[in-house]
Amino acid sequence: MELRPFSGTYLTDPAAIWRDLLDGPERVHYADDLGLWLITKHADVRTALGDSEAFSNALTLMPIYDMCPEALSIVMQIDAPPTTAAADAPTHTRTRRALRATFANTAARVNEQYGAMVRRRVDELVSRLVARRGTVVDLVSDFAAELPLLVIVDLLGAPPEDVPAIKSWSDGQIALVWGQPDPAEQVRLAQGLLDFWRYCQRLVAIRVREGHDGDDFISKALRYRGGDDEILTEDEVASLAFNLLVAGHETTSGLIAHSLDNALSVSSRWERLVENPAGVPAFIEETLRFGPAIDGWLRVTTRDVAIGETTIPAGSRCLLLLGAANRDSGVFAHPDVFDPHRADGRDHLSFGYGPHFCIGAALARLEAQVALTQLTAAVPGLRLAPEHVSSFKPNAGFRAHHALPVFVETFARVDERAPRAA
Ligand code: HEM
Repeated sequence: MELRPFSGTYLTDPAAIWRDLLDGPERVHYADDLGLWLITKHADVRTALGDSEAFSNALTLMPIYDMCPEALSIVMQIDAPPTTAAADAPTHTRTRRALRATFANTAARVNEQYGAMVRRRVDELVSRLVARRGTVVDLVSDFAAELPLLVIVDLLGAPPEDVPAIKSWSDGQIALVWGQPDPAEQVRLAQGLLDFWRYCQRLVAIRVREGHDGDDFISKALRYRGGDDEILTEDEVASLAFNLLVAGHETTSGLIAHSLDNALSVSSRWERLVENPAGVPAFIEETLRFGPAIDGWLRVTTRDVAIGETTIPAGSRCLLLLGAANRDSGVFAHPDVFDPHRADGRDHLSFGYGPHFCIGAALARLEAQVALTQLTAAVPGLRLAPEHVSSFKPNAGFRAHHALPVFVETFARVDERAPRAA
């Protein structure tokens, strides 16, 4: 079969394909167009995520197609040592331990350490939105894409003036690994990725030279390292920063945009959140299940692996369809219904499962919760521009909206239609 993630139905309506794959007779599928095995059932995806001996992370951040030689030669110059998402044990165990010691990953620690920073950034962005009341604004470029980027840049201690470059490099990494760029674009994106890596190395070098007693992540990681390469090398600190800068914002931007789309595309849902903001956390959890910001994630098999009647050979790259697993009727009642009150909602796999479980899950939840809560309070009359039709960037793993144009209204005006965008 062909998945065709860059065109066709999978791009516009992935849930229709997930349903076909889940309901079909085969337990796993081979996507001829991608050269990837597709794993869809909740139990199989969870096993693959959790079994790092049979399913390695070694190629997780390598492009899903054969790069042209020029792009490949540039990528080969990126000498970033694998850490966390791209590493297996024992490197993964050691670098994950370092991350857990230096980066808050529980709801309580995140709130305590990053809560004020998140709230300040949300307040700034919401105030800017309120100042534009009566106009049409793109909530993706002017809110959802900005908030997590500003937060992760604050958290890492990178200079705010570097935000545009970081955004462009990190968008480029996602397009290079999970997209379908032509050779000229591959070369451009590969060069951006190399520049991004060198930038992260410089961030670390500056802290090494000028002192690292601050509260930012890089300073904390350097203190944790204590000058001992057995604990963490300087390049591993840079590699962790490199991963966090991408993982920390593209995904959370997606979650905020999906939540806003889910809330605003059915006006009664938005009104309910305005009336009862205590419902926001459950709404976000259901958004994570229903349409995850990462709906496919990679592993490579280290040996032959049998799933049902099929044997996936050793050395095969597998796309774990997290979005499909979240619609498995064996786990979720009425899986294709968006229901924030469902009892089984937290069984989704949108943050992964097992040893690589997302270290930023608590931060992502906090950002999305504060953002939606503040928006319902400050702009209760927010409405999608009437001509808007959701569309996504062509990508095999990250599901990101192109845009989310809304009419900004500070008063709830339930019965009126928003004016057309200029
Ligand atoms: C909605 C937002 C997010 C989603 C959907 C998401 C999703 C995921 C998934 C599916 C994994 C598992 C990878 C695997 O099993 O190989 C993962 C790992 C990871 N995530 Fe997230 N993530 C989000 C937000 C964040 C944030 C805010 C950060 C940090 C600031 C972050 C940092 C990481 C890191 C470092 C890993 C690698 C962990 C490891 O390999 O041990 N993520 N994320």
